[in-house]
Amino acid sequence: MSTTETKHTSKQQPRSQINEHENVIEVKGLVTHYGQRKILDGVDFEVKKGEIRVVMGGSGSGKSTLLWYMLGLYQPTAGEIKLLGKDLQKISFNDHLNLKQDIGVSFQSGALFSSMSVGDNVALPLRELTDLDENTIRIISRMKLEVVNLGGFHKLMPAQLSGGMIKRAALARSIVMDPKLLFFDEPSAGLDPVVASEIDDLILSLRDTMGMSMVVVTHELDSAFKIADRITVLDNGKNLITGTVEEIKRSTNKRVMDLLQRRSRHDKLNPTEYLRRLTQENYTLS
Ligand SMILES: Nc1ncnc2c1ncn2[C@@H]1O[C@H](COP(=O)(O)OP(=O)(O)OP(=O)(O)O)[C@@H](O)[C@H]1O
Ligand SMILES: [Mg+2]
Repeated sequence: MSTTETKHTSKQQPRSQINEHENVIEVKGLVTHYGQRKILDGVDFEVKKGEIRVVMGGSGSGKSTLLWYMLGLYQPTAGEIKLLGKDLQKISFNDHLNLKQDIGVSFQSGALFSSMSVGDNVALPLRELTDLDENTIRIISRMKLEVVNLGGFHKLMPAQLSGGMIKRAALARSIVMDPKLLFFDEPSAGLDPVVASEIDDLILSLRDTMGMSMVVVTHELDSAFKIADRITVLDNGKNLITGTVEEIKRSTNKRVMDLLQRRSRHDKLNPTEYLRRLTQENYTLS
């Protein structure tokens, strides 16, 4: 798809548009380490075209890590990652550059460059990755600001926006290249429920009007249940369960039930281990 082509259409596509036969993401047996510490321990993860996949799990369970590895920011210890049919371990440098143009990212911090106007922030990927003329860039970036209900706000600086507006502007920047695949880390963290719900509606409309496939990491149960076609729960570096909202709600797995009911893990404390931790000078997590 060329970057100048826009996919704006008012035609609503129902969830049945998910293409059962086409995986846009195929992760198999992913094992990752930060230093000596194993974070992901054999994760399998497949996302279908047109699907919104929500990833949940306790803090530190590896949700953001999974996104970073799928973006090719680090080399896995073992396993395979295929995005849009391309194997990240085997792809050439140029093919990877092209692939990146089909992937939009909105990170947990959602940062905009504070010294640039909202319009310039949104236009940045077009200026860096395409040779479109300024007029076209201006029109496309303003169109994307319209999509996230920030039409007319292009001249403001990030410091003049509310938290929800910053998230929406960051979303506009992540979709400015018309990506086929969008990674979204904590879209509604720290927002009030009304604004969070607006972000959910935006995510749904990106799938329905632009046919985007998305991986959305969130802690917000209401949001997960509203937007997810399927939910994956990560736990102890593994894909604990993947299922539809109904399947997740019906799960009798204790860890899933704890997550849904917001219960702490009640991990048993081993007194000897605890004492060792307190007294050992160079103790680090293993
Ligand atoms: N760059 C890094 N270097 C070393 N360790 C890291 C790095 N990034 C994350 N970690 C560790 O990896 C583990 C998983 O982190 P990650 O950020 O993926 O968790 P998360 O599930 O996204 O958590 P949260 O819900 O709090 O955002 C954590 O224990 C964290 O300390
Ligand atoms: Mg995270």
